[in-house]
Amino acid sequence: MSGRLSGKIAAITGAGSGIGRASAKLFASEGAKLVLLDKTDAVKETAAMVEADGGHAVVMTGDAGEEQDISALVAKAIEMHGGLHVMFANAGITGNVRGGFFDATPDVWAEVLRINLIGPFLAVKHAASAIKDSGGGAIVCTASVAGLRSGAGPAQYSASKAGVINLVQTAAQQLAGTGVRVNAVLPGLTETGMTQPLFDGARAAGKEDRIGQLNPLLRGGQPGEIAQAALFLASEEASYVNGQALAVDGGLSSSHPTSRPPGDPNRPTS
Ligand SMILES: NC(=O)c1ccc[n+]([C@@H]2O[C@H](COP(=O)([O-])OP(=O)(O)OC[C@H]3O[C@@H](n4cnc5c(N)ncnc54)[C@H](O)[C@@H]3O)[C@@H](O)[C@H]2O)c1
Repeated sequence: MSGRLSGKIAAITGAGSGIGRASAKLFASEGAKLVLLDKTDAVKETAAMVEADGGHAVVMTGDAGEEQDISALVAKAIEMHGGLHVMFANAGITGNVRGGFFDATPDVWAEVLRINLIGPFLAVKHAASAIKDSGGGAIVCTASVAGLRSGAGPAQYSASKAGVINLVQTAAQQLAGTGVRVNAVLPGLTETGMTQPLFDGARAAGKEDRIGQLNPLLRGGQPGEIAQAALFLASEEASYVNGQALAVDGGLSSSHPTSRPPGDPNRPTS
């Protein structure tokens, strides 16, 4: 099979749903052999989808914020497929709490940072040498537009994603001369397991047109659209892209907040 990841071996965390599942299907369709990790058994369904389409995927259930599990994921790629070229550190949680900013506890902050930020650090730490030994490749981490500024999620979530943006900058520098690139993809509002209640609620209320109204495409994203950006960063097409944060948000982050002027057909009516 020829494709943009032909002959490559890729590990993906958070592969049981949403962006991780869409990326698994896309990476496999582009020729990658996969090792997939999720904390739930849904990752087995993802692997079955990949295999049904003629791809190769082995699965692990585990915790993307635990060092032994990330180390085991890399070891599994080497054991099952003979190496590693791509690590997509994608697993994440929002850490929503009842109430607001002042109601979050240190435990909530610690758990969000553990999975969303320490997880990608562990992915870099354990994947980098395996990728170097396999002849080079890429690490992609899922951050968020929430990491650029306030207002797109709870404070602990935003802080964790801001940390991921900084992490890929530092990691790219730390890996100078190794042939390992490190970048972040920054989704805007995307329809996945994480946001399904929001999308379902808006549809049930007949307000689907409100979803994504703050970005100039006036819609939410689909997981496959984020997967395409992750594929680009993972592939040789991004061979000179390193230490960067690529927003895939319909243009949301291109502007400060502004109201649509009277007469604008997209101005909300109520
Ligand atoms: N959906 C959005 O609007 C949006 C926007 C910006 C960023 N993101 C980020 O995209 C990434 C993927 O999320 P999604 O939107 O596809 O949501 P999702 O809930 O559909 O998928 C997340 C997957 O990660 C898994 N996961 C969670 N914690 C884990 C852990 N500790 N170990 C292993 N697996 C774990 C879940 O079981 C789930 O399968 C996350 O990092 C999220 O923060 C999502």
